[in-house]
Amino acid sequence: LADVTADLTEVLLTEQQINDKIADLSRRIEQDYAGERVLLVAVLKGAVMVMADVARELKIHVELDFMAVSSYGLSTESSGVVRILKDLDTDLNGRHVIIVEDIIDSGLTLAWLRGNLASRGPKSLEILALLRKPDAAKVDVDVKYFGFDIPNAFVVGYGLDYSEKYRNLRGIAVLAPHIYA
Ligand code: PRP
Ligand code: MN
Ligand code: MG
Repeated sequence: LADVTADLTEVLLTEQQINDKIADLSRRIEQDYAGERVLLVAVLKGAVMVMADVARELKIHVELDFMAVSSYGLSTESSGVVRILKDLDTDLNGRHVIIVEDIIDSGLTLAWLRGNLASRGPKSLEILALLRKPDAAKVDVDVKYFGFDIPNAFVVGYGLDYSEKYRNLRGIAVLAPHIYA
């Protein structure tokens, strides 16, 4: 069986670059929420690595919760209409909430999610997203804690999948075209 790395063309972000960025973002969050208690909400499954690393990097009290969502419709293009597959266990009323995402592609998932969570009465609501693709500029999503702008390539690793594979890579890499062609 071929090694996973044989399916990749180039490493876009190394484990070290990701770690450094997570540390930067965490220092900012620690300052912004000093003395407060924060609920981190990760969107399954892509955000699990960011969630695990940010949560462990933060030296303030955090709680973790998870949501699973799915876009409606058969189109490969995201419709912007989202269905909740797994909702939060936590009541957001009066809570400081940070949504944790791996990537903003069209921005439709986060735009919908922000609106949905905002309606639950949080004391504050911000977004952390590690990656952003160029198309994201078309939808206005206010991301307070943001990592890297990346080119419009098919990227995998560090939670990001192609057909559920490659999520377990430590870095973020470009998928070789022969894999999805
Ligand atoms: C990916 C990614 C984001 C979303 C971004 O999730 O993890 O959650 O797409 O796309 P958008 O900005 O165009 O809405 P996906 O739906 O592939 O599920 P996964 O996290 O389980 O891989
Ligand atoms: Mn996702
Ligand atoms: Mg995916």
